[in-house]
Amino acid sequence: MDIRLHNLSVVFRDRNGAAVPVLDIPSLTIAAGQQVCLVGGSGSGKTTLLNTVAGIVLPTAGQVLFDDTDVAAFSEARRDHFRAQHVGYVFQTFNLLQGLTALENVSLPAHFAGGSQAATKERARSLLERVGLSHRMDARPGTMSVGEQQRVAIARAVINQPTVVLADEPTANLDVKNSDEVLGLLKEAASEAQSILMLVTHEPRVQAHFEDVRPLQEVSQ
Ligand SMILES: Nc1ncnc2c1ncn2[C@@H]1O[C@H](COP(=O)(O)OP(=O)(O)OP(=O)(O)O)[C@@H](O)[C@H]1O
Ligand SMILES: [Mg+2]
Repeated sequence: MDIRLHNLSVVFRDRNGAAVPVLDIPSLTIAAGQQVCLVGGSGSGKTTLLNTVAGIVLPTAGQVLFDDTDVAAFSEARRDHFRAQHVGYVFQTFNLLQGLTALENVSLPAHFAGGSQAATKERARSLLERVGLSHRMDARPGTMSVGEQQRVAIARAVINQPTVVLADEPTANLDVKNSDEVLGLLKEAASEAQSILMLVTHEPRVQAHFEDVRPLQEVSQ
């Protein structure tokens, strides 16, 4: 599937009800399997852009299209189902469930998408091995380092071989060595799953890992 943003605009309201335009993207196409790094400063709308592609924030105008599917036109329940199948999201703050182990966190999206329990567990195990966490499968997020939690979040984002993996500043809390490792993993995992990778960052160093770097300012109006 390709992802196309068409005349996309997102406008928030401030406390006084005044319009705050956050995103204005006339046209942006990301082809199936492509890996893109979108760059912008703090407050430039990076998280909002990923939330809009995920269908968590709905466009004020315009469309996000997965091939010809306009997810915003779906009911909320159908949108949740579509997201579970097509979107893997490495959130800026991970959003791991604290009451679940690493293995359970990674398995969760596959349960939502309706995968068989045995196959899900097997795949979650192999992904956690892949990200170097075979010894931490039964650990809860609160007992894991930031880098370990980040790797759990990456494994969780790719378990359903989603159409798109969204990654929000996935190296923000890491040192150079761990950051390079996490970026490598993310790109490899997306590539193995044949997923689009949309990564947003403000860090110039992260851009060096991508051939396709697009400043948010340039794709915006
Ligand atoms: N729910 C909301 N209601 C009103 N304004 C919002 C809302 N969410 C975000 N904003 C505003 O929209 C702008 C873009 O926010 P966003 O979180 O997308 O930026 P960002 O590029 O991800 O920033 P950072 O690099 O700091 O994470 C900011 O000015 C923010 O204050
Ligand atoms: Mg952000």
